[in-house]
Amino acid sequence: IIIILDFGSQYSELIARRIRETEVYSEVLSYRTTAAQLREIKPKGIILSGGPNSVYDQGAPECDPEIFQLGVPVLGVCYGMQLMVKQLGGRVERAKRGEYGKASLHIDDPTDLLTNVENGSTMWMSHGDSCVDLPLGFEVLAHTDNTPCAAIADHQRALFGVQFHPEVVHSVGGIALIRNFVYHICHCDPTWTTDAFIEESIREVRNQVGDRRVLLALSGGVDSSTLAFLLHRAIGDNLTCMFIDQGFMRKGEPERLVELFDHQFHIPVQYVNARDRFLKQLEGVTDPEEKRRLIGHEFIQVFEEESQRLGPFDYLAQGTLYPDVIESADSNVDPKTGERVAVKIKSHHNVGGLPKNLRFKLVEPLRKLFKDEVRKLGRSIGLPEEIVRRHPFPGPGLAIRIIGEVTSERLNILRDADFIVRDEISKRGIYHDYWQAFAVLLPIRSVGVMGDKRTYAHPVVLRFITSEDGMTADWARVPYDILEAISNRIVNEVKGVNRVVYDITSKPPGTIEWE
Ligand code: XMP
Repeated sequence: IIIILDFGSQYSELIARRIRETEVYSEVLSYRTTAAQLREIKPKGIILSGGPNSVYDQGAPECDPEIFQLGVPVLGVCYGMQLMVKQLGGRVERAKRGEYGKASLHIDDPTDLLTNVENGSTMWMSHGDSCVDLPLGFEVLAHTDNTPCAAIADHQRALFGVQFHPEVVHSVGGIALIRNFVYHICHCDPTWTTDAFIEESIREVRNQVGDRRVLLALSGGVDSSTLAFLLHRAIGDNLTCMFIDQGFMRKGEPERLVELFDHQFHIPVQYVNARDRFLKQLEGVTDPEEKRRLIGHEFIQVFEEESQRLGPFDYLAQGTLYPDVIESADSNVDPKTGERVAVKIKSHHNVGGLPKNLRFKLVEPLRKLFKDEVRKLGRSIGLPEEIVRRHPFPGPGLAIRIIGEVTSERLNILRDADFIVRDEISKRGIYHDYWQAFAVLLPIRSVGVMGDKRTYAHPVVLRFITSEDGMTADWARVPYDILEAISNRIVNEVKGVNRVVYDITSKPPGTIEWE
C-alpha cells in the first residue's frame, strides 16, 4: 500500500487513482496521521500531496516530522515537497515569478525517479513558492526555466520531491514517474487487480455475513448493480434485491432491469410498484427541494415496509464508494481537538440515503473503490455494458426533470421525449460521447402552428453535457443535424410538446440537472 497524506489538494484523490492504475493499492489519509500510525499501516511508500497553502502561512498544515525517519520512501508533490524541504532544514521562498501551467522539464539526473521520463517533457506546474536551499543530503534531479529545484532527491534516505504535478494528464512523463516511485523506489508488487479484488471481497463478505440474509436496494445504476452481482456470487440466494419503482424512471427501464437481473442473470429481484404512492406525495408540489425531500422520505417509508414484509434481514448492502469515505484534510478532523470525526457519509442527493437508525448492519464491499474501478469490476464480474456505461441518472429520476408539479401526464410526455433523445444518439453510435444527454419538461406553454392549427403546448429543453466527473461540466457542441432530427421527432411524435430548445449553460454557473 502507498499512503497519500492529504494537505487539502484537489488532486489527492487523483494521485490515489493514478497509483491504483499501476495495480498498486493506495489510500488517502489526513496529513495529521502520525508516524506511529503509519508504522502500523506499514506502507511501502508515502506521498505528501499538494495543498492550497504556503508553508509559511500561519497554521499551514504540517506532517509529523518523524515520518521522514520511518525508513519508508517519501515523495512530496508541490506543497508536499516544500513542506519536506522546510521541515528538514532547507528554505522555501515566495518565487519572483510563480509558475502556472505547462513547463518544460530539464533533467539533470535521469536515474531512479526520472527513469524513462524524457528530457524536455511537459509537466504541469501550479505554485507561487519555490525551494531555494535544499536540506543536507538533497540534490537537484531536474529544473525548469523558472524553477531551479523542480525535482529533488536524497537518495540515501529515499526522500523525493517534485514541484510539478505528475498526476494530472497534462504532465507527459507523469505516469512514468509515478511508476518509478511505486515500483523501483518502493518495490511494490502489482497486486491491486480486479480479479484479486473480487476474490478477496467474496471471502470477506462470506466471513462477515455467514449464512445470514442481506438486503440490497437496487436502482439500476452501476454501483448497486455491481454490488448485486458481487454479493450474489458471494452468498447466492441469501441476497435479496429490492427494486422500488417510484415511477420516475425512463421508458422501459424498470421492465428491462427485472428482465436482465431476474431472467437473464438469475438474480431474483423483488419488484415493488410504488408509482401511485410517489405521485400522490408530489401532488401540488412545485418546490425542487421539497420534491427531493418528499421523494427521499417516501422512499424510506416504502423501503421499511417492504423490508419488513420480505425480512427479517440482518444486513443491508450499500454501494458506498471510496470518495464517500475518503479522509480529506479538513473534512475529517475536528479543528479544535485534532481528533478524527466520523467519515463523510453519502448524503449527497441519493435516494437510497437511508436513515441512520436502521437496525441493519452494513455490508459495503465497494467502499475501497473509485467509480472507474467499480466500472471495471462490474465488467469483469459479468455486468452488461448497457449498465456499466449508462449515463448517470439521478435518484429522484424524471421527477426533477419536470419543472413544476409532477403529474402522470407530464411524466408520459417527458418519458417519450427522453426516449427519442436516447434513441437518436444511440443509433448514431454517439451515446458515449456525452456525459449525459436528456430532456427537461417546462411547465409553461407557448404558441405554435401545426398543419393549419394553432397549438399551445409545452417546450422541452435538451441538455447535453460533457464532463469528467460531474463536478464541473460544459454544454456539448452537438451537431445541428442531430439537434434537428431530435427536435423534429419530439414535436411530431410527442403530444403536448410544440417547441424544443437547447440549454447552452455550463456548470458552474448552471447545474447539470434543472432542479
Ligand atoms: P448537478 O445537477 O448537481 O448534478 O450538476 C451533478 C450530477 O449528479 C447527478 N444527480 C444526482 N445523482 N441522486 C443522484 O444519484 C440525485 O438526487 C442527483 N441529482 C443530481 C446529476 O445527474 C449529475 O450527473
